[in-house]
Amino acid sequence: MISKKIEKAINKQMNLEAFSAYIYLSMAAYFEGLNLEGFSHWMRLQAEEELGHAMRLFKYVLERDGNVELLPIKAPPATWKSPLDACQHALKHERVNTKQINDLMDLSFKEVDHATRIFLQWFVAEQVEEESSATKLAEKVRLAGKDGAAILVLDQELLKRQLGAS
Ligand code: FEO
Repeated sequence: MISKKIEKAINKQMNLEAFSAYIYLSMAAYFEGLNLEGFSHWMRLQAEEELGHAMRLFKYVLERDGNVELLPIKAPPATWKSPLDACQHALKHERVNTKQINDLMDLSFKEVDHATRIFLQWFVAEQVEEESSATKLAEKVRLAGKDGAAILVLDQELLKRQLGAS
């Protein structure tokens, strides 16, 4: 069994992962509207990854005989000022996610819940990757600036992303 505190915090994390999927799906639609298919593809895959993260938490709560609580998912923004604005938002959001994962890890220490601590290690490592790929993306878009040709080259590069790789 997991403690009520851990259960509540994991359910909250599950909600944040689902919200992350919503944000990336909204970004996928935004980029599709700009005819930037590579960006849109990258965001769609990211949304799938986020759903995968939510499912890991879902399974874990059930495995520990806890109660899954599916909290309401906030509506994400529908548009951004520019591709750079969207990519910088993605990075900012990943940082928020990392903070919440770290808080959850702190709680697992406080509650002396070794199983949860070990389970969360995957998420801690994953956030390093998530922040790194979001940083690279935002930086490349920043460097491209208003150069449409550079954005199109980047768009082609992003089209190559496969699930499980960032
Ligand atoms: Fe599930 Fe992007 O972290």
